[in-house]
Formats: sequence, structure tokens, C-alpha cells
Amino acid sequence: ASRSISDLVVFFNRNPFGIAFDIDGVLLRGREPIGRAPESLARLYKDVKNAELQVPYIFLTNGGGMTESARAAELTRLLGVPIAAQQVLLGHSPFMSLSHRFKSKRVLSVGKGAVDEVLASYGFRKVVKIDEYVEEFDSIDPLESYKPWVKQSKSSRDILMPSSDQKISAVFVCSDPVDWGRDLQVLCDVLRSGGLPGEAESESPQPPLFFAADDLEYQAKFPVTRFGMGAFRLALETLYKEVVGHPLAYHSYGKPKAVVYKLAENSLQHVAKLLNTKHGKPLTSTEKVVSSHLESATVGEVNEEHCALKTIYMIGDNPETDIAGAIGVGRPWFSILVRTGCFREPENHPLYPADKVVEDVYEAIDFIAQNEG
Ligand code: G3P
Ligand code: MG
Repeated sequence: ASRSISDLVVFFNRNPFGIAFDIDGVLLRGREPIGRAPESLARLYKDVKNAELQVPYIFLTNGGGMTESARAAELTRLLGVPIAAQQVLLGHSPFMSLSHRFKSKRVLSVGKGAVDEVLASYGFRKVVKIDEYVEEFDSIDPLESYKPWVKQSKSSRDILMPSSDQKISAVFVCSDPVDWGRDLQVLCDVLRSGGLPGEAESESPQPPLFFAADDLEYQAKFPVTRFGMGAFRLALETLYKEVVGHPLAYHSYGKPKAVVYKLAENSLQHVAKLLNTKHGKPLTSTEKVVSSHLESATVGEVNEEHCALKTIYMIGDNPETDIAGAIGVGRPWFSILVRTGCFREPENHPLYPADKVVEDVYEAIDFIAQNEG
């Protein structure tokens, strides 16, 4: 039988635990909640209306394309429970720790959504979105006139002559690119020229390239999995190698990278602390997001601060990202694999076996309640 939520809070105080939820394929498919996802989250609150949380939980997704606060507001709308920005870790959240390095340099943001606003919110000062960047170069996309959705009003006097001001110091692929053909072309141009398209061969080194995640596929609304950012990376890498002759240099974040799980531990502890110090009071979304731990952490060398949580449950649908990452980090992570997204098999995944396999997120919460009891 399922334990009630008041049982859970008793056990939380005795033996602190937290939960990290994957989003796509666990809670949502596109914009639609999966099964009893809203009810599952509601079980973690003492009082949903007043945003009184009693089990610390966060969202740990490889998705993105909007700020953490915007995503928190959207998740609140879609899932029917009050969600604070501190509870949201997106694929691109670790980029915050890179803003000092590129603060006053011109960087290119790529991907769906408000990816320029995202980087600006992390402290990057000179961000140009790829959709605007292409406007600076006449005929950079030879197929543009065949794209009825692109406004064809550009007059030649609007086109700038390539100048060193346009030079790109780093490229950030923040979310799934929308126009793959154009973006593959333009990124190859930027990367092979040392940052300024139009110069085919250049002595300048390839600008640093960062990907927010590397999922080959993910579960969206369509019944069969869709290509993710990892598929785009593969396409770019292959084309770059073919035309330039040497391998593409890049760095990717997102699950299953250990650094992301360490950031999640910090976030969860932060949420748990707010819960303890403000017990009975709601977490407010006005409190500063992703908080100081991300600003100070240098990605790649996260401080190995002791995690006060005895168990962190990772509820995910993708064995290769969600589960592989939790296995890689080990304690206090405990992985729960659901069958509502990428994974649908009757048996556990052979390569990345989860600690527990359940049908859906509701069953996952049942299991946690029992396990903590
Ligand atoms: O584009 C989103 C996808 O890469 C994965 O999202 O929530 O399953 O980590 P999620
Ligand atoms: Mg997923």
C-alpha cells in the first residue's frame, strides 16, 4: 500500500532524501503531462495551494531554450503545482559557470527558444542569436529564398560587410537547433574560419564550441523518439571533419555527465535547506535561480562538497543519459527507470541497469514512499 505524504515527511527528517525528475518522457510528452504526473508531484507538497513543499525535489532535464524562471513558470502551468526557479536545472544551466570567461566576448547562441536571453541571464554580455547572425551575411544560406517562413525583406544596404566586430569567440548550442541545414552550414563557416564566416581558410584556431546536452534521441509528443542535440552534434562533427580535414573540438554537458549530477546535488541541498529554514513557508520563484553554487563552480572541477542527502532518486526514461549518469556517480544516487518514454522494455536495460524499473512516475513515487518507510 502507498504511504501517505505525512509519512514521507517524517522519513525525510529522519533520513534525508531528495528526488530529481527528468522531464521529457517522464512528466511530459511535448506539452502534455504523462498519465498521473501532476498527481505524482502534488504528493510531494504539504499544501499545494500555498506552495508548501515537504520533500525536496528538482527537475534535471537535458532540455532548454528558456531561462530557469521561465521554465519554472511553464512547468507550474503544465503540471499544476507551484514550481520555483531554484528547482529547475536545464541542459544549459552549467553554461553560467563559463560566463566569466566570455563575459565581454561576442558569443553565438544556437537552438530553439530564447537562447540569447538565456545566455544574457547567465552574465554573457555580447550574445548574438544565430537567427540574427545570419542577417549580417548576404547569401550565407543559399536556400533561404526557398523557405517561406523566412522574411524575404532584407535589402542589400542592411547587410554589413564582414568586419572583425562580427568575430565569434565561442559557440553555445543551448537547445535543439531549428533549421539544421542552415545551422550546420553557418557553424561550419564560423568554426573553420576562426570565428568570421567568409574567410574559408584561416590560421586562427577553432573557437570553443559547447553543447548543452548530447542526447541522440528523446521522447517528444510523436510516438517514436526524435533526434536530439547529440544527433545534431554528430552531423556537425561529420561534416566538419569531411570539409576541414581534422576533428571538431567540442565540449558537451547534460546527463550523463557527472558534473551535472554534482550540480543537481547542490541544487537539491539548496532546496532542502530552504525547506528546513523556511518550514511551512513556500519557496518563492523570486529567489535567485541556480544560485551561487553554479556561479562559483568551475564546470569540470566541481567541489566535492559532502552531500547531506542520504539518497537522491533519479527518475528517468533514458537509460543512456538519466540512468547511466546516476550509475556513474554512484551514492547517494539511486536510479528509477520508467517505461513512459525512450525505454519500453519488459526487462531492465542490459547496459545501464537501473536500481529499479517501474511503469510510470506515479509508481516511482509509490516505490520511494515504501523504500523510505
Ligand atoms: O530536448 C530535450 C531532450 O534532450 C531531453 O530532455 O527532460 O528527457 O532530459 P529530458
Ligand atoms: Mg527524458
